[in-house]
Amino acid sequence: MAFKSKIKTIEWVENVSRMIDQTILPKEFKTVDIATTEGMYKAIKDMIVRGAPAIGIAGAHGLALSAIELSKSVKNKEEFLNKLSEKAEYLKSSRPTAVNLMWAVDKQMKLTQETQGSIEEITQALIQNGIKLENEDIEINKKMGDYGAEVVPKGATILTHCNAGALATVGYGTALGVIRSAFAKDPTIKVFADETRPRQQGARLTTWELTQDGIPTTLITDGMCSYFMSKGMIDMVVVGADRIAANGDTANKIGTYTVAIAAKYHKVPFYIAAPLSTIDISIKSGEEIPIEERNHEEVTHINGDWICAQEVNIINPGFDVTPNELITGIITEKGILKPNFTDSIKEVFKGR
Ligand code: MRU
Repeated sequence: MAFKSKIKTIEWVENVSRMIDQTILPKEFKTVDIATTEGMYKAIKDMIVRGAPAIGIAGAHGLALSAIELSKSVKNKEEFLNKLSEKAEYLKSSRPTAVNLMWAVDKQMKLTQETQGSIEEITQALIQNGIKLENEDIEINKKMGDYGAEVVPKGATILTHCNAGALATVGYGTALGVIRSAFAKDPTIKVFADETRPRQQGARLTTWELTQDGIPTTLITDGMCSYFMSKGMIDMVVVGADRIAANGDTANKIGTYTVAIAAKYHKVPFYIAAPLSTIDISIKSGEEIPIEERNHEEVTHINGDWICAQEVNIINPGFDVTPNELITGIITEKGILKPNFTDSIKEVFKGR
């Protein structure tokens, strides 16, 4: 069964990037059109678009928008290329952890350098490449879904954290793509979704997506996972990733590490589902992954109301790093990578 909304989370439509506004779901379903570099920077930073692969496509679209903007104001090609490269750095600075953003913007910049021709021709090449990356994202997710479904036990209850679904990608999802593919083969599987404080992507987005597909989903708060594991009620964990180091250490939404420790203790298999574009082979281990510190209001407020003493100290990292020894396998579009991850990652990147 397909994700009912059918529309893409992010899509290039007539010189704008159209995206689902994820800040207001599930109360309201609305799309917004982003038409400028500045607009795209804000859309990524404010999480109108979020989730590593979706942010990547946003970056690719963002640079196409930059090219359209610049083509109207620059004097010559040299100025166009210099300013485009500044815009690329600006877009990449909108969020630091998900490497898909850097991957996609760098891919667009490489294309710019390779494209011989006029400003107009380069701009068209960037637009077309953004659309190509969009379509490839869905294909990649479906491949991950096929591989991942193979390791889902019959009738399993699967725990997931945050939202690694259609909304975090162009469509179908990474971790939720695995769940969708498994459910298509075995409609007896069920999902437990962590709420995912502080921004509640699990409660707001994952439950919204999965229930539309008729996949039985139970919402739990973040602290409950070890309790349900101890009761034997969770058979497997599958989550997404924002950046995977060359040794398999994986950054994902804050709280993922806690789930992974609980899973190891209770001998529950813990899988990451992520495209190869999320693997950053330039860094040796998770220690090198930059962790985004987000606005403190995400912790101090719920729906605009204070929930704590106003004098309290706050710290709000958006992500944590799960060490590779807690990970059973990394589900990619090229198959499931197994420990030792340093070797399996090296192998899958051979010749790339
Ligand atoms: O802060 P977010 O909502 O962008 O964080 C999203 C996650 O951590 C996802 O699990 C990750 O990006 C993988 S999405 C396929």
